[in-house]
Amino acid sequence: MAQRIAVIPGDGIGPEVIAQGMRVLERVRQTHKLDLEFVHFGWNADEFLRTGISIPPGAMDDIRRNYAAVYLGAFGDPRIPDMKHAADILLGMRFQLDLYVNYRPVKLLNDRLSPLKEKKKIDMVIFRENTEGAYVGMGGNFKRGTAEEIAVQEDVSTRKGVERIIRYAFEFAKRSGRKSVCMSDKNNVMRFGGDLWMRTFEEVAKEYPSIEHFHMFVDALTMQMVRAPELFDVIVTNNMFGDIVTDLGAALQGGLGVAASGNINPGKVSLFEPIHGSAPKYAGHDVANPVGAILTASMMLEYLGHNDAAKRIESAVVAAVDANETTKDLGGNLGTKAAGEAILKRL
Ligand code: IPM
Ligand code: MN
Repeated sequence: MAQRIAVIPGDGIGPEVIAQGMRVLERVRQTHKLDLEFVHFGWNADEFLRTGISIPPGAMDDIRRNYAAVYLGAFGDPRIPDMKHAADILLGMRFQLDLYVNYRPVKLLNDRLSPLKEKKKIDMVIFRENTEGAYVGMGGNFKRGTAEEIAVQEDVSTRKGVERIIRYAFEFAKRSGRKSVCMSDKNNVMRFGGDLWMRTFEEVAKEYPSIEHFHMFVDALTMQMVRAPELFDVIVTNNMFGDIVTDLGAALQGGLGVAASGNINPGKVSLFEPIHGSAPKYAGHDVANPVGAILTASMMLEYLGHNDAAKRIESAVVAAVDANETTKDLGGNLGTKAAGEAILKRL
């Protein structure tokens, strides 16, 4: 049976970069004889403003039951300041499909792309917990709009949630021959959640004696990622800290334009998206970098068990970047379509 993939281009530059990703996917589908079926969904800001519906009733169950993966562009539109549709669709999928692993590799494709003055090894993988933390939306405003207003925003960690992401990080390190796992939090201030994270980390680490493990406060982590990125192999952290440090990670690997991510529920339908947002001001100008979306396609194929096709795409991207056949953010002079073409012709 074909592996069915839901394609959701979304808003802003999403459709432009996903179009390039789709050309690459279509090509390897043929060359590698992959049994893939793509189904496109037009859920986005325009649709939401027109119909008032962000994601149709039943769609989430349909995806859960009948799809192997979701390939998503980006969400965000200035006409919807509260990001209601994005929250329903993207965060909705993270929570309702229990995509608890946010997998964000940080790897320099070419030394030229490093923003650091000195040449340093930049090759780490960040695992961000994706279903808890500050993202659960618990809390409220009391006496809203008055001088006595109180706002409470809860940061939730469960033993189950913390343990499974930490274990996933260790399993990944073991499987991929990485030597260390760093857990990062702020347990000097956030005592309760930090206590749970720290104890769980130490306990799970005992099951992996061959892998080094260490803890770092998240403020120190941001400094060390810039000062000494070679210290890091695998990093595991909570939802909010993970959101922040992966943008820093993206900057270390050449910018948001090249960073890929997977929102994974191991063995179940999982969602793959470039880390960049919808960048409305660049939309429609053929300037967005398609590399993030194309590397995301490669990551998705790897998840679906098509390692050869995945590697082929990654090599084609590296070759195009080496040849400087890229968009302007990477120092080239190509538009989105031509940069996609440069990768396509190297497949
Ligand atoms: C990300 C994004 C999202 C997040 C936004 C769009 C809700 O920044 O995937 O990193 O905060 O998780
Ligand atoms: Mn983010």
